[in-house]
Amino acid sequence: MTAEDKTRLAALLDTSGDFLRDEHWREREAPLFEDDAADSVAQTAMGAGGDSLETIAADVRECRVCGLCGLRILPVPGEGVRQPLVLVIGEAPGSEEDERGKPFVGAAGRLLDRMLASINLSRTTNCFITNTVKCRPPGNRDPSPQETAACAPFLARQIRILRPAYILCMGRIAAQTMLRTSEGIGRLRGKFFDYTPDCPLDNAVIAPIPLIATYHPSALLRDANLKRPAWEDLKTLLAHIQP
Ligand code: URA
Repeated sequence: MTAEDKTRLAALLDTSGDFLRDEHWREREAPLFEDDAADSVAQTAMGAGGDSLETIAADVRECRVCGLCGLRILPVPGEGVRQPLVLVIGEAPGSEEDERGKPFVGAAGRLLDRMLASINLSRTTNCFITNTVKCRPPGNRDPSPQETAACAPFLARQIRILRPAYILCMGRIAAQTMLRTSEGIGRLRGKFFDYTPDCPLDNAVIAPIPLIATYHPSALLRDANLKRPAWEDLKTLLAHIQP
């Protein structure tokens, strides 16, 4: 149920209660509601060609294209709402994500949630969170270009179904992968690029999606000096979302 529907229902119940009590309508503050979360990829969202988030998650589970599949506990396709305002893309699952099959649930994930909340974003209301690579690289090493390339079709399919209004890349690997560049994160962060979805399965024309990158929350945990520029980047995104 959407927040708007819940607000209407609450108002109807309040008014009915008032009427039944003494036919006197009382003024009260409207409670704040949130949209119900499309909690995980278990929710079906159909895209072009009959593809869906569920199908992609199943394909990720079956995937044997690179060696990471033999090392993982659980693959981590992603979670969040359908048709998100912002698609958040990280690097790859870490150990806690590997154990739980959900993205960004460790220390970096908790910081990511706080960063998103600071600009009114969350995985339960208006974001979808995923990674460039869906299986954990051992020892938390960077995913190799081969592993990133092997996983790229999953991300492309997710983007075609989710149709996010914005893309937020967390860290160098996500930014370099999405922008197909080897430029450092220091140069890529804080400004908007147009991301044109690729891997078309049909003839649909998808408009470029504004993409912005910032530092990865793990980098902020290592170096507190990066917090201020990351905050500036988030404010730049917020200014676009709420001009
Ligand atoms: N770091 C990432 O980039 N992704 C996760 O899901 C967790 C940590």
